[in-house]
Amino acid sequence: MDTPNALRSGWASRFGFILAATGSAVGLGNIWKFPYITGIHGGGAFVLVYLLCILLLGLPIMVAELLIGRCGQRDAIGSFMALEGRKSPWRLVGWGSVAAAFVLLSFYSVVAGWSFDYVCKAATGILHRGNPEQISGLFGELTASAPRLVFWQALFILTTVGIVIGGIRGGIERWSKILMPGLFGLLILLFLHGMFSPGGMQSLKFMFVPDFTKLTSRSLLDALGHAFFTLSLGAGVMITYGSYLDPEADLFGLSFRIALLDTLVAMLASLTIFSVVFSAGMPIDGGPGLVFKTLPILFMQLPFGKVLALVFFLLLAFAALTSAISMLEVVVAYVIDEWGWRRAKATSFGGGAAFLLGIPCALSFNLWEGIKLLPGRTVFQSFDMLVSSYLLPLGGLMVSLYAGWVWTKEREKPASCRLADSGVLFAVWHFLVRYLAPAAVLLVLLNEAGLFS
Ligand code: PHE
Repeated sequence: MDTPNALRSGWASRFGFILAATGSAVGLGNIWKFPYITGIHGGGAFVLVYLLCILLLGLPIMVAELLIGRCGQRDAIGSFMALEGRKSPWRLVGWGSVAAAFVLLSFYSVVAGWSFDYVCKAATGILHRGNPEQISGLFGELTASAPRLVFWQALFILTTVGIVIGGIRGGIERWSKILMPGLFGLLILLFLHGMFSPGGMQSLKFMFVPDFTKLTSRSLLDALGHAFFTLSLGAGVMITYGSYLDPEADLFGLSFRIALLDTLVAMLASLTIFSVVFSAGMPIDGGPGLVFKTLPILFMQLPFGKVLALVFFLLLAFAALTSAISMLEVVVAYVIDEWGWRRAKATSFGGGAAFLLGIPCALSFNLWEGIKLLPGRTVFQSFDMLVSSYLLPLGGLMVSLYAGWVWTKEREKPASCRLADSGVLFAVWHFLVRYLAPAAVLLVLLNEAGLFS
């Protein structure tokens, strides 16, 4: 193993790591995507499958990724090379994750840009003028305007670059400590209000009473894909963040806390949004515009609604930011570790390239709406599908195969390469990464490829 002896400098504290990793996990996936795909897939049964995917597949793979990074002490590609040798085919898994993180950043920044636009709308009071239809209509006006989408996307990437340039402690950790607790506090407030609104009960029922007739093979793939997406797995994030962790950190405990917080945010956000949808009698399967069309209506009815709207969209932007930071850090860590570039140069390069790739994604909501990359899908939808449904699960599959079948006892010797618990927890983890996770992901992927139809 050709890892450097001294562990590289990393997080200032475990708490800082938890916030940064949770910051990566909690993002648009929780507040924007999970509610709208749950709406499309009919609620309860989909939520149940999703929770199982988090617990049985996501959690063990997160532990495996953190372990690989902490042991390899490098970026996502370098860690595999450090562990298996420079020419090992496993480095391709690293390549896949860095590519996934990069493509992800390009289209993620478009949606994150919407949240910036809504911050502006809330600040200027536009969000509070007119009737509910007019307010919902603002979303369509935004996505129809190419210059506005590209402008906000550029601003979002610039902000991300600004933070990542500051490095691990001074940039990522410091900002996560400010942004994440704020997000939690506000979400709980909105959730409580939502539960006491007329649609509160119906929202709970929709989320937690399963109707299995609504499940399709598409729902299974989406639940699995989203479990990876929401926990930031398969994109090298946890490998990269794990490489900045100290050797004594308990990876089981840390992963559990990250997954728990992430799930909590997804549940709170969905329950809140559905309570508005049901109260206002809106369609539940509103698609990608759901959060932008529904929450402003809730804010209109609330005391201090104007302030809350502003704070909410600010925090949505923050949540997106802490996730985008982690995607960019995957690319930047690679460029720094493997090409030897300075952080400032690596960050500007990575951010600039992601911005360029993001432009066609932004245009696919308006000027290039008719251009299909994958059959029937716009550029944005194709990128989303490629990353969320294929690259992330595939990355997760390879990581679990690696951790379950290739990870040798020999390598477990240095403290940074060992898992704290070698008893029951370890045995359960090993079983899950060795058998269950690969089998489940493979089945779902093969099913998607049409093998069983
Ligand atoms: N977990 C993030 C979210 O839910 C998205 C993400 C995926 C971030 C993969 C990094 C890597 O929004």
